[in-house]
Amino acid sequence: MNDGLPGALATSAESPGRARVLRAHVLHVPRDPFEIGPQALEAWSDGAVAIDEAGRVTDLGEASEVLARQPRLPLVDARDAILLPGLVDAHVHYPQVGVIGALGLPLLPWLAQRTFPHETRFADLELARREASTFVRLLLANGTTTALVFGAHFAPATEALFEAAAEAGLRLATGLVVADRLVPKALRTTPDEAYAASLRLATRWHGRGRLRYALTPRFAPACSDELLAACGAVARERPELTVTSHLNESPAEIAHVRRAFPRDGDYLAVYERHGLVRPGAVYAHDLHPSDDELARLADAGAAVAHCPSSNAFLGSGAFPLRRHRRAGVAVALGTDVGAGTSLSLLHEGLQAYLTQKGLAEAGEPLAAPHVLWLATRAGADAIGMGEHVGDLRPGRAADLVLLRPRPASTLAATLRYADSAEAVLAACLTLAREDAVAQTWVQGEAVHPRRAA
Ligand code: GUN
Ligand code: ZN
Repeated sequence: MNDGLPGALATSAESPGRARVLRAHVLHVPRDPFEIGPQALEAWSDGAVAIDEAGRVTDLGEASEVLARQPRLPLVDARDAILLPGLVDAHVHYPQVGVIGALGLPLLPWLAQRTFPHETRFADLELARREASTFVRLLLANGTTTALVFGAHFAPATEALFEAAAEAGLRLATGLVVADRLVPKALRTTPDEAYAASLRLATRWHGRGRLRYALTPRFAPACSDELLAACGAVARERPELTVTSHLNESPAEIAHVRRAFPRDGDYLAVYERHGLVRPGAVYAHDLHPSDDELARLADAGAAVAHCPSSNAFLGSGAFPLRRHRRAGVAVALGTDVGAGTSLSLLHEGLQAYLTQKGLAEAGEPLAAPHVLWLATRAGADAIGMGEHVGDLRPGRAADLVLLRPRPASTLAATLRYADSAEAVLAACLTLAREDAVAQTWVQGEAVHPRRAA
């Protein structure tokens, strides 16, 4: 890897069309390293990706070969940079950027004292619009091109997020968050309102451009049976919708669920009884599952979003990743801001590595390809977008992130000695953050910075 030269992109990159060849250090993980091992990483130190006018990848490989096959396309010369598939955040809360770093509390007090009060501000549509566009901008600035996002408890604020994503080009699944107990009155809805508003928003937004609707009960402790039944009714009517919520996050929360739903054998059963555990459902955390819950998640084809920085931040526990995978449960990665500590999936990937390294059950630690897989392909599959995004194989949408180390940065100094693709990737996961993201594209369109190449 050469040093972080302040390499400007070739001027041809400024051509208005999307068709082009990007030449860079290219890495992706198109197959599952948990099944086939770290050789799942495919990389070209002088590689190239060709993109057509529709923003699809048409060619991938050694630069000399791609350039010979695509002689007429404009060239973006980014040989001083690293090109990855756009990152996929499988769990993050839009109204929580303002509570990042609220130190010192476990889950339930953190929600009650810091987070719920902040989320009530999103009743103000002007504030919500401003926060929505900030949130979307920050995701793209961190290289995230697809996200499954907890919306707000207010329909207009949730619509503001759809609008901001459509405007900026982000691929987004989100929905109105619903709750009718435990949260402050201002955040509560009723089963009838939740049913009507969720259906209305789904009809308006699901399938529009890059947007999908996600049915979003906050978590079982904040939902009555009647409210979950209303969500289940929408889920039955609209089987194509994503479903998302929280599951088995902290011991105190799980004890709360046992008291609130005494007839259900475990936490997952509460959602199952309402038809909310199905393919396309993504449950965040699941730190403390029984073997039976894991088997049922796998059977249902539901996925789990692992949120390691949030788990450490709130002291919720350590995620049994290998147990999930051994049980056949799909696992993706989420930043879970505001309990999470950043919107960077690279940072989150490092935290996933650190967590698994410290776990006896982990057996072998994660290698860099496992981490990139979790932050890209696995997330795309979990959210139901795996056919379109998640890796750089021809036919996929050209959702990309270009990392360019700042010349005097630690990352640049470390990369000088990175003598393999895995070492380059590991250095990026460990050291690259928002300031190393030089460019983000969705469907071949520059979305960060907005008007650059
Ligand atoms: N459970 C219910 N709501 C939340 C939330 O906002 N963050 C986390 N980490 N867990 C939750
Ligand atoms: Zn969450």
